[in-house]
Amino acid sequence: MRNEFCGQVTEKYLNQQVEVCGWVGNRRDHGGVIFIDLRDHTGLVQVVVEPDNEAAFKIADSARYEYCLRVKGTVRNRPEGQNNDKLVTGKIELVVDEYQVLNPSKALPFMLDENPGENIRLQYRYLDLRRDSMQHNMRLRSKLTHALRNHLHQRDFLDIETPVLTKATPEGARDFLVPSRMNAGQFYAMPQSPQLFKQLLMMSGMDRYYQIARCFRDEDLRADRQPEFTQLDIEMAFVEQEDVLQMAENLIRDTFKEVLDVELANPFPRMTYSEAMRRYGSDKPDLRIDLELVDVADAVKDSEFKVFSAPANDPAGRVAVLKVPQGGATFTRKQIDEYEPYARRFGARGLAWIKVNEKTAGKEGLQSPIVKFLSDDALSGILSATQAEDGDLLFFGAGKYSEVSQFMGALRLKVGQDLGRVAAGWRPLWVVDFPMFEYNDDENRWDALHHPFTAPTGTVDELKNNPGDALSKGYDMVMNGVEMGGGSIRIHDQQMQSSVLGLLGISAEQAKEKFGFLLEALQYGCPPHGGIAFGVDRMASLMCGEDSIREVIAFPKTSSGHCPLTNAPSNIDADQLAEVHVQVIEPETDD
Ligand code: AMO
Ligand code: AMP
Repeated sequence: MRNEFCGQVTEKYLNQQVEVCGWVGNRRDHGGVIFIDLRDHTGLVQVVVEPDNEAAFKIADSARYEYCLRVKGTVRNRPEGQNNDKLVTGKIELVVDEYQVLNPSKALPFMLDENPGENIRLQYRYLDLRRDSMQHNMRLRSKLTHALRNHLHQRDFLDIETPVLTKATPEGARDFLVPSRMNAGQFYAMPQSPQLFKQLLMMSGMDRYYQIARCFRDEDLRADRQPEFTQLDIEMAFVEQEDVLQMAENLIRDTFKEVLDVELANPFPRMTYSEAMRRYGSDKPDLRIDLELVDVADAVKDSEFKVFSAPANDPAGRVAVLKVPQGGATFTRKQIDEYEPYARRFGARGLAWIKVNEKTAGKEGLQSPIVKFLSDDALSGILSATQAEDGDLLFFGAGKYSEVSQFMGALRLKVGQDLGRVAAGWRPLWVVDFPMFEYNDDENRWDALHHPFTAPTGTVDELKNNPGDALSKGYDMVMNGVEMGGGSIRIHDQQMQSSVLGLLGISAEQAKEKFGFLLEALQYGCPPHGGIAFGVDRMASLMCGEDSIREVIAFPKTSSGHCPLTNAPSNIDADQLAEVHVQVIEPETDD
């Protein structure tokens, strides 16, 4: 239907006839001459319909926004002074010889250059995707998955599909369930990841596996979380942690070079989990921001201010300072006060601060609601630990180690953004040496920090004697503060696997019911193995500079898990439910 794309009709076609197809963007009527910006996926070309071409002019006069057209025309130079340097096609225009409306368009519910809000955008996603930015994002994502596949294919990784109708794979979320018509009362679970299947493939001698796999997790949604999302899932046999890190680094370095022409650090820096929590209050530190947390428990141990001294004397407590260089000089009192409610959203119970006006002037030189509670020794200890200078602002977080780290880490990001201290560029990082377990206070038991198939660094006995101190062979790849991927060396010893499940409070009977197939498979010469999975949506959104992964998913769900386009999820009629042996229990209402 066409012999060129709209965005590629340039002066090389001068005086020649070209046929293009596309959609009507801007349309202008200039004293009897009609100008149309005709657009396709490559860009736009200015189409001119002159009144002496009566047949074309009549139809063109009726063409409206987003009509779908086919146009045959002759290329000529634009008149003096009318060039548009921003367009590849900006020097020419296409004078219509033949003009065909392939399909008219109803008036659009919104103009493509305005933002009608997420619900409308998703309801008319097929129109929303016509925008330049969405065209760009979809194309970049396709280039990304192609580059990833290519790299792995060249290194003998096999692309193997694993089931979507399966049994639960625990990754920390709830499962989506699918009722079985042929097995009354029984359900499949959709995989939270292909974790167990990829391990089984290593036991099958496949040696190296990858899959661009859809994963399903019923959890609370955020900007970087969707109920179904895509992983680049990888597993390798006969490897140690170092082998996987090397492979994954090379993959990501090559891919950034290929897709964005960016050279990433070689090697990627590494940091232990405990260092990341201590310095950045996060297991995914954004290294573009140069602010760090400083521990000041030693300085306030003997203080009468219980808010500080209690956690300072508690081995599970923390008193940390975020020093904002010149923050005291930059922020107004009102601005400083606004950070407290922000920190509360991340679990803080308060956010003490000290503004350093003149550090040599003792208490008089410090402005703060808490200096009156602190001794001169404590204050000088704080000033020296933080190396504070006049003009600096110190924010204090005190309480449980994990809670303080969480809200001070969030505060660090917010302050860094507010002060414009986010450096440009790409800062990859490996976070390693994760704890094996974290204690779940609500349920009074240990939870796996990665997943229950991650190998510990020590022996079964060491693990049982001191689960809280055990480290795992797990690792996360972080990019600019986003957890882009995570993986581990797996347990390949059946006894170790049973012990870990036991420590997680899973009885031998439950273990057999849920993971019996894995425990059985581990007994037939299972090779040591390990791997990693990358969030493809997150990688694509980072590369596109988007804050939300919804901007790089063609048909995403809203934050309440809805699809405004298809109206899923929706009611199912009683007959169809009966067929799959399901009865709906309506949620109870207040009355
Ligand atoms: P994990 O649960 O860390 O590991 O997931 C791997 C990566 O997937 C991305 N991701 C998500 N992206 C969008 N929406 C979500 N809801 C979502 N959840 C996770 C993240 C994350 O780093 N089986 C293990 C991997 C392994 O051990 O090999 C796993 O799934 O970028
Ligand atoms: P209070 O004694 O509760 O009025 O607190 C005095 C000051 O300490 C206030 O500025 C509070 O914001 C701050 N504060 C209270 N609890 C904490 C905490 N857990 N961490 C940091 N600052 C706190």
